[in-house]
Amino acid sequence: MQNFFLKNLEEARYNSTKVKLKSNINLVIMTIHIKNSQEIDKMRIAGTLASQVLDFITPFVEPGISTEEIDRLCHDYMVNIQKTIPAPLNYAPDGHTPYPKSICTSVNHQICHGVPGPKVLKDGDIVNIDITVIKEGFHGDTSRMFLLGNPSIQAKRLCSLTYEAMWLGIQKVKPGTQLGDIGFTIQNFAEEHGFSVVREFCGHGIGKRFHEEPQILHYGKPGTGLSLEAGMIFTIEPMINAGKRDIKQMPDGWTIVTKDRSLSAQWEHTVLVTQSGYEVLTVSEKTPSPPMFVN
Ligand code: MF3
Ligand code: CO
Ligand code: CO
Repeated sequence: MQNFFLKNLEEARYNSTKVKLKSNINLVIMTIHIKNSQEIDKMRIAGTLASQVLDFITPFVEPGISTEEIDRLCHDYMVNIQKTIPAPLNYAPDGHTPYPKSICTSVNHQICHGVPGPKVLKDGDIVNIDITVIKEGFHGDTSRMFLLGNPSIQAKRLCSLTYEAMWLGIQKVKPGTQLGDIGFTIQNFAEEHGFSVVREFCGHGIGKRFHEEPQILHYGKPGTGLSLEAGMIFTIEPMINAGKRDIKQMPDGWTIVTKDRSLSAQWEHTVLVTQSGYEVLTVSEKTPSPPMFVN
């Protein structure tokens, strides 16, 4: 089943149809896939598998390992053990060179899409590992922060507040909630604590395609934007900076860093809108428990 919505051109990203009207008004037609129960079952499986890759890699994320070793271990686990496809490998949305690795590893001031390489992790680093697998044609997308040894108080605070920000957003998910309510909740919380929210990257619908509509902005105004409906599946994945929100892209064409080189953190879950609220699909044995404020 498909629903069609009209949306502001500015917010368009992947896979939107752009329509130019006579009156010179630009409209974007969004296609949001409402998942049926068979599709939801497959998304649950893909979500669990993505989360299990993070469980698998956890004991290896120690000072002395390089991010490309982490990539190789995850790649082999996905391909050989899980028989999943690492969705990032060769992923090439318009305008991008194909992504060269199977996972993203974003260290310290790297915000997202960090390309694994020879960089060796050291005591005090914080690293986001972002996993997307494809199983039976469906995607599961999740990321966690890893703290190596004993990071600074600020780094620990950034990681835990970003986790809470994601969960504050997740808790808003239920039919009738508007996307602006989710964005506002996350932005307000981050900014109250003196941090900033990255604007250029956002959560996204997910299913048979990696990035579907709608976009889930991590900032916004309450009572604005699309209303959620049961059967929608999307990610919530706030990127929060200790300093200013401005970003810079590295020459590799993928890795995004903070312009002021301040630390950045991110957590990500794939979430289903249910009749009464939400179901987090990216859970497995070692998924960190939700914050205390979640019932
Ligand atoms: N997993 C990322 C997300 O959460 C997307 C990574 S795209 C890649 O949307 F090509 F950089 F891998
Ligand atoms: Co995502
Ligand atoms: Co991701």
